[in-house]
Amino acid sequence: MRTTVGIIGAGPAGLLLARLLHRKGIDCVVLEGRTRAYVEHRQRAGMLEQGTVDALRECGAAERLDAEGLIHHGIELRFDRERHHIDFPVLTGGRTVTIYAQTEIVKDLVALLLAEGPPLLFEAPALAVEKPESDSPLVRFVHEGREQTLSCDYVVGCDGSHGIARDAFPAEVGRTYTHDYPYSWLGILADVPPSCDELVYARGPGGFALHSMRSSSVSRLYLQVPNGTDPRDWPDERVWDELGARFAIDGDWRLERGPITAKSVTPVRSRVQEPMRHGRLFLAGDAAHIVPPTGAKGLNLAVSDVRVLARGFAELYRTGSGQLLDRYSQLCLGRVWQATRFSYDMTRMLHAQPDEDAFEYRLQLARLRRITASRPAAAELAANYTGLPLAL
Ligand code: APR
Ligand code: PHB
Repeated sequence: MRTTVGIIGAGPAGLLLARLLHRKGIDCVVLEGRTRAYVEHRQRAGMLEQGTVDALRECGAAERLDAEGLIHHGIELRFDRERHHIDFPVLTGGRTVTIYAQTEIVKDLVALLLAEGPPLLFEAPALAVEKPESDSPLVRFVHEGREQTLSCDYVVGCDGSHGIARDAFPAEVGRTYTHDYPYSWLGILADVPPSCDELVYARGPGGFALHSMRSSSVSRLYLQVPNGTDPRDWPDERVWDELGARFAIDGDWRLERGPITAKSVTPVRSRVQEPMRHGRLFLAGDAAHIVPPTGAKGLNLAVSDVRVLARGFAELYRTGSGQLLDRYSQLCLGRVWQATRFSYDMTRMLHAQPDEDAFEYRLQLARLRRITASRPAAAELAANYTGLPLAL
């Protein structure tokens, strides 16, 4: 098989890149290791910056997002039994965010690709990227029980945090920066209307909790738990009790309970791979960087990477200039490190350290109070949360 751009992975990064390239008339093929059902049912985050919504609209993939996405005008911070509204439009000159689950974006893009192209192969795991330094890199992969080869002009690894594309970077070429946090998130989906209109980020007595939502009848909630936590140690009653305690405020508010339909534990970590390009191999999305979910930046970073790539390929094939592609890594990493910093700060401000002393907790409260008392401090949070401009 031969194509112009070989894409490994059908998460949001790979699917959106394929859609953008297809619309620009650039050939590509997507190889996905898992089944369609698997990728369409993986539970992930769902907070979209305006730039992410715009990108999906521009490529004709936002019909359901526009009908079903929930526009949010801010978030709520809770601490010390108080609630504080952070008003995004007021603080940012009109910006909002949209709640629409990543799984739904994946379903929308898969349906479009299967109907209109480019080729998207499921159950086609890539084994290795070879000759990235040459003019015709290739991807070895398995499909229908046979090992095959995809020869390409370029390869893009959109294969997430456990992918294989990164392995084709020689050890001396790159560097990976990592930070493991001493806690994980226990996430649940519940068939119950959200108990709030906005996302609630809480620094409660036992640590962090987040109230998010998927629709007017489905809630998504998270709890900080110790690393290594087994979800079976958290029966439903215990989850609701702990959430109730962490969200508790003085005043009238109640956490509605309902049947829990999914429960899982995810470690919280930061990772950045530098550079994001080696020869004719590019990395995009989780394959290149992971951020803690506290800032809701993972999906948005993946989308901004592939927007830069799609413009770079369009420039190359339209004008012959590889200038934008040559700046890909540098352009993306500026934004990636800003998101890494923001996610780190949010995480450290809202989570209990395992060996926390009273001094540290007081500092967290002082940081939270600064944000709720000072307009510039709140504006800084709002600017980062709603998304920094795409530097092109
Ligand atoms: N061959 C083919 N496909 C692979 C391989 C492989 N060797 N390894 C991994 N994949 C596939 C995975 O099965 C998955 O479908 O690559 C895809 C990667 O998708 P995601 O993990 O969703 O990563 P990405 O597209 O970068 O999405 C960005 O935003 O909210 C965050 O972390 C969250 O996944 C999310 C991310
Ligand atoms: C989610 O809706 O799953 C979600 C929202 C915001 C976050 C993390 C997760 O910061």
